[in-house]
Amino acid sequence: MAHFKHSFASLLTFFFFAALVTAYNLNPGPYVGSDSLSLDPCLSECSSNDTINDCNHKCHCATEETVMIDATAKQQKFRGFGINLAWFAFVMGRAPESVRNQIADLLFDKENGLGLNVVRYEIPGGENPRFFFMHERERLPGYEPVPGVYDWSADEAQRWFLMAAIQRGVEIQEAMAYSPPYWMTYSGSTTGGPKGYPNFNINYKEQFVDYLVTVVKHFYEHFNVTFSTLEMFNEPLADYWTFGNRQEGCHIGLDTQQILIPILHKKLQEANIPTKIAAADDYSIDQTLFTVIAYNETGIIRDLHQVNTHTYAGNRRAQLHEAMLDVNKPLWVSEYGNGDNSGLITARHIMKDIQKLQPEVWCYWQGVDMAGSGWGPLEAHLNTVGDYSFYATPKYYTFGQFTKFLKPGSTFVSTSDPLTLAAIHENTLTLVTMNCGKVTFDVSSFSNMMYQEAQVWYSVPWKGLYFKKVGTFLVENGKITLELPVAGVSSIVIQ
Ligand SMILES: *[C@@H]1O[C@H](CO)[C@@H](O)[C@H](O)[C@H]1NC(C)=O
Ligand SMILES: *[C@@H]1O[C@H](CO)[C@@H](O)[C@H](O)[C@H]1NC(C)=O
Ligand SMILES: *[C@@H]1O[C@H](CO)[C@@H](O)[C@H](O)[C@H]1NC(C)=O
Repeated sequence: MAHFKHSFASLLTFFFFAALVTAYNLNPGPYVGSDSLSLDPCLSECSSNDTINDCNHKCHCATEETVMIDATAKQQKFRGFGINLAWFAFVMGRAPESVRNQIADLLFDKENGLGLNVVRYEIPGGENPRFFFMHERERLPGYEPVPGVYDWSADEAQRWFLMAAIQRGVEIQEAMAYSPPYWMTYSGSTTGGPKGYPNFNINYKEQFVDYLVTVVKHFYEHFNVTFSTLEMFNEPLADYWTFGNRQEGCHIGLDTQQILIPILHKKLQEANIPTKIAAADDYSIDQTLFTVIAYNETGIIRDLHQVNTHTYAGNRRAQLHEAMLDVNKPLWVSEYGNGDNSGLITARHIMKDIQKLQPEVWCYWQGVDMAGSGWGPLEAHLNTVGDYSFYATPKYYTFGQFTKFLKPGSTFVSTSDPLTLAAIHENTLTLVTMNCGKVTFDVSSFSNMMYQEAQVWYSVPWKGLYFKKVGTFLVENGKITLELPVAGVSSIVIQ
C-alpha cells in the first residue's frame, strides 16, 4: 500500500508538469503538494501501468450501470460556483501585476480559467495595532481604524482581486465580515474573546452596522461594486474564536444576531442601496438548520434575503433543504474546503451538497491556499512576504470539471445516481459524474430535445490527466454509453 502511494505521488508529480505546461503555459515552479493524496482505496489494487479500463475492472466499476436522467424532475436554478477572496487576495493582490493577472485568469476567466461567477469579499474588522497574533496572510486592515475615521485606501490588495474578478465577468459579489473592528470588541482584538466567549460589545450595535453599511455604500458609489448581499457573521456560534487566535473571528450568539439583523435591515433601506442580507454562515449544516428554525420562530427570517451555510460538518441536508422551502428563501453554500489535493473528496462533497441541499450558489473556501496544504486549487507561500510563486494542484482540475461545465443559469434535474449531476442550460444538457466503468446515461425523458452527440472531458489525478478531451460520442435512442475512469471527474456535454 505504502509503495503504491509513493509511486502514485511521483507519477502525479511527473504528469502534473506536463499538464500545466501544455494547458496554461505557466511557469509555476516545482509541484510541492504533499503526497497525501486521498484517492479511492481501491486504487492500491491498480498499477500505474494499468489502463483506465484495467483499473476500472479491478475497482469493480465495470459492472454495467444505467443512470436515469429525469427531465421532469427539475431542481434548483443555479447561479454559479464561487470563491472567497479574503486572505489569498490580500497576499496575492500585492504580487507583480503579471502574476496577479495570471491568477485572476486561472480563477475567473470563462475560456481559459475556472470561470467562477461569484466572489465573497471580506470587509475586514481591522486588528488592534498593539497585537500581532495573526498570520501574515490574515492581517487585513480595516476601513475604520479609529472610531469615526475612514481610510478608503485600506485593503487595496483584496480590492484589486475583487475588481479583477468583475472585469473577467464575475457577476455576483457578496460582502462579509469575520469580526467587528477591534475597538467594538470586549477583548480589544478581532481574534476573539477569552475562551471563545462572545466578543462583540453590544453597546456598539449601531456603530457596527453603520461600519458595514458605510463600506458597502462606498463601494457602490465610488468603486462601482454592487454587493448583492451582505453577511455580518462568520461561524458566529463557534467557540474557537479565542483571544490570541491567528485570524479574525467573533462569537456572536443567536440573541445578539437577532438584535443586529433588524438594525442592518433598516439601515440598508435608509442608505438606499440594493444590497440585501445573508446570514448566518454557520460552520455546519446542522447548525444552520438550528439557526433557520430560530430565526423563523422569532420572525427575524423575514429581514433576510438568503441563508448561507458552510458545509464543513453536519449531515442534515434534506432537513435544511425542507426548511428552506418552508421559509421560502434561497440557500448558498458559502464555504467548504479540505486538505485533499486530488480534489476528489471535494468533488463528492459538491455532488452531495448540490443534490441534497439544492443551493443556488456553491463556493469553495480559498482560490489560493498554503503551499503543501492540499487546500488550494492554486497554492503559494502566503505567509512568506514577497514570495509570489504559485502552482496549480490536481484539485484545480477536478473542481474545474464542475465549474467550467455547469454554467450559471442552468437548472439542475434529478438523476438516479448520487455521483452524477445533471443540468440543463438552453439546449445543452451537461452531466458531471464520478461514476466509473461502463455507464449508460439514459436521457430519453428529454423527448422534446434532439440530443445527438456528447463531448466528454475528464480529469484523473492518479493518471495525471487534466481536462483531457476524451472524444465525441453518439446518443442513440436517447442513451449514451461511456467508459469512465475510477477516481476521476468526467464532464459530458450533450447537444
Ligand atoms: C510498469 O511497466 C514498466 C515497463 O514495462 C516496468 O518496468 C514496471 O515494473 C511496471 N510497473 C508496475 C508497477 O507494474
Ligand atoms: C460599473 O460596473 C458595471 C457593471 O460591472 C459596468 O457595466 C460599468 O461599465 C461600470 N462603470 C464604470 C464607470 O466603470
Ligand atoms: C416556521 O414558522 C411557521 C409559523 O410558526 C411554522 O409553521 C413552520 O413550521 C416553521 N418552519 C420552520 C422550518 O421552522
